[in-house]
Formats: sequence, structure tokens, C-alpha cells
Amino acid sequence: MSTQLPPLSLYIHLPWCVRKCPYCDFNSHQADRFEANGKLPEDAYLAQLLADLDADLPYVAGRPIQTAFIGGGTPSLMSEDFYYRLMDALRGKLTWADNAEITMEANPGTFEQEKFRHFRQAGINRLSIGIQSFQPNLLKTLGRIHNREEAIHAVDKSRAAGFDNINLDLMHGLPDQSLEMALEDLSLAIELNPEHLSWYQLTIEPNTEFYRRPPKLPEDNTLWGIQDAGQELLNKHGYAQYEVSANSKEHHRAAHNLNYWRFGDYIGIGAGAHGKITLVNGQIFRTRKTRHPNHYLNNLPEALVIKEAIEQEDLPLEFMMNRLRLFETFDLKDYERFTYQNVPDALIKACEIAIKQGFLDADEWKKQSIKTTEKGKLFLNELLELFLP
Ligand SMILES: C[S@@+](CC[C@H](N)C(=O)[O-])C[C@H]1O[C@@H](n2cnc3c(N)ncnc32)[C@H](O)[C@@H]1O
Ligand code: SF4
Repeated sequence: MSTQLPPLSLYIHLPWCVRKCPYCDFNSHQADRFEANGKLPEDAYLAQLLADLDADLPYVAGRPIQTAFIGGGTPSLMSEDFYYRLMDALRGKLTWADNAEITMEANPGTFEQEKFRHFRQAGINRLSIGIQSFQPNLLKTLGRIHNREEAIHAVDKSRAAGFDNINLDLMHGLPDQSLEMALEDLSLAIELNPEHLSWYQLTIEPNTEFYRRPPKLPEDNTLWGIQDAGQELLNKHGYAQYEVSANSKEHHRAAHNLNYWRFGDYIGIGAGAHGKITLVNGQIFRTRKTRHPNHYLNNLPEALVIKEAIEQEDLPLEFMMNRLRLFETFDLKDYERFTYQNVPDALIKACEIAIKQGFLDADEWKKQSIKTTEKGKLFLNELLELFLP
């Protein structure tokens, strides 16, 4: 068994948005339904977040927090005062790694320069800006609260507020989108020169307006064309793809997401937040906090959490499922580092079969590392099936 618990991150969920986008199934709720006198219950939510964290503190087990991610919803809706108080409290309750990456999701429709300067001063050092598209008609179809100009200026404003680490979220495969339209969006995003670009293909999720009233999506041929040409454009401009949707300049991969995908630990606080925790006795479990903001706000911290153990026999598959999302070669020893368990014989046997089938690289395996071959990437489901208990 490894002597060290896996690296630990912190996720904080803010569940409110100005209005709900028709494609979105995240735990986000229209803010004005929760406001009293035009204000969100910031004080009550902050108090509950901290009580929620207090209840999870035993899981920290002396570890420094490597990264934090404030996601949503639209976290940039909350006031600067909220973040000064939140970040102060987090510094008091937790030990932080040097240069910990602390990201906030922001919507271009909520950009007031002065507020973002305060967010930076409070200690947030990375922004993830939800652009989605620059095209006026698509922004309308997507129900976005911002226009093209606001999307473009969000980056300048972030730079002026002191942010030197920025991600843009962009989507493709949008209703009636042609190859040219998708590439125009991507080119414009690249011109803004962010450090990181998340480029998601739109999926239609149950429980969304788009699921109930499906829009007309591009044909499969167009979708493939967009994917191929887009990835080429990203490469050409120095954005390396390191996960299905994640692309970054050198040294700017998202440390927080990397920790998820490498099967690191994370504490999740806030309505509907997920966590994954390893205990010193070797038990690993997932946590989920109650989803509805009102339920979250009105219950004792003990009532917020749902816990589910990950069984030992499921670990090889769980680990590989996360790990193989990343296009990186990794050390077999990482299994011990991130699961806190010895490498089981079953995992070694499965790797050997995968090599025979051409899914994993034989030369890397001789050096005790794991690399998915091009065939393995193509038959990812078949590869993963080999790790079933
Ligand atoms: C949790 S959302 C929050 C971002 C922020 N609230 C915003 O929209 O400006 C994170 C990202 O997931 C992507 N996303 C959300 N729903 C999606 C869907 N149905 N298909 C593909 N990507 C989606 C969007 O790019 C979005 O920016
Ligand atoms: S603003 Fe972001 S989180 Fe909110 S509904 Fe739209 S996509 Fe979802």
C-alpha cells in the first residue's frame, strides 16, 4: 500500500444563474427565485458552505489543498464581499500548497471590471469564462445572457483585473452550425489568446429544454469535420489536446481537472457538490451533497451528505476509466499513489491482455508504464471492459 494519501483538491458549488440555459443539466437554478429584496442569500449560503466544510475536515488528514475550483451555476454572480470572506475562512481552515491553482467560473454577462479585480485580490488566480459561441443568433438559441461584444471583452477585462491564467469554454455541434461557423468561433477564441481552451461538443441531456424540444443539430459528417478541422486549428496555434475536450498551451493544463482525471481526492462542498475521499484505512468513497439550494440551506451539515463506498474489486476499472481520459503515458506506480492500494494481479493480467490485443503499448509496459495505442483509443470501451471485476 502507498504510504501517502492521494493529492487533495477542493470543489465549491454555487448553484445560481441569471437564467437557465436550455442545454444545461448542471445543478443551477434561476437566481431571482431565491432572492429576497433583489439579493441572493449570500450570508446564509456562506455560513452553510463553511459548516459543510467543517463536517468534511476529518477527510483532509493533514494534506495541503493542491487546487480549488469554484463552479456552478454562475459563481461570478456573488459579491466581492462574499469571496473575501470565503477565501479568508478557507485560508484559516485549511493548509494550501504553494501556488495552489484557484479557479472561478465566470459568465461574460456578469463582468464588472472592479468586481473581478476584487476576486483576484481575494485570492482567485484562474478564470474559466463560459463563452459558448460568439455568433449572435447562436447565443440567442443557447439562451445566453451576454452578446458577442461582451464575450470578446470578457478576456480584456479579466487581464486588466490581473488574471494571467484564463480558460475559455466554447461549444460546437450547435443547432444549425456549419463547419465554417464552428471554425470562425474557434478562431476568434484563439485570437483572444487564452492559456486554456475547453471545446465541448453539445450533448442533449435529459431534463433540459433542448431534450424536451430538440433543436436541429448538424449531421454526423459535419460533426466529424468540425472535430477534425478544429483540433488541427488548435494544434497549429499551440493548444495541445490532453483530454477529449481540454486543450492548453504548454504548462497550462488545468491542475484541478488533472487531479480528478488522475483519480486524486477532492472534497466537494455546496449544493449538489461531489467528492471522492480516501481514508487512511484504505477505504475509498464518493460523497454527494443534497442538490436543491433550499434543502442545502435549511438542513444541518450531517443531513447534507450522501456517501457511497467504492468496492476494492471495482478500483482497477474506476482508476483506468479516469486515467484513460487523459492522453498521457503514466507510471504503473501511479495506481498505488492514487488508490492507496498495491497494484492487484488482476490489473497486471488485464494490461497484459490489452497489450496482446494491441490496445496498450508493449515497449512502455516494459518500462512499467502505460500508454494507450491508437487502436486502444479507437476501442476504448473494449479496452476498459478488460478491467471489469
Ligand atoms: C458548469 S458549466 C458553467 C459555466 C458558466 N456557468 C457559463 O455557462 O458561463 C461548464 C461548461 O460546460 C459546458 N456545457 C454545459 N452544458 C453542456 C452540454 N449540454 N453539452 C456540452 N457542453 C456543455 C459549457 O461550455 C459550460 O461553460
Ligand atoms: S449559465 Fe452556465 S451553469 Fe448556468 S444554466 Fe447556463 S450553462 Fe448552466
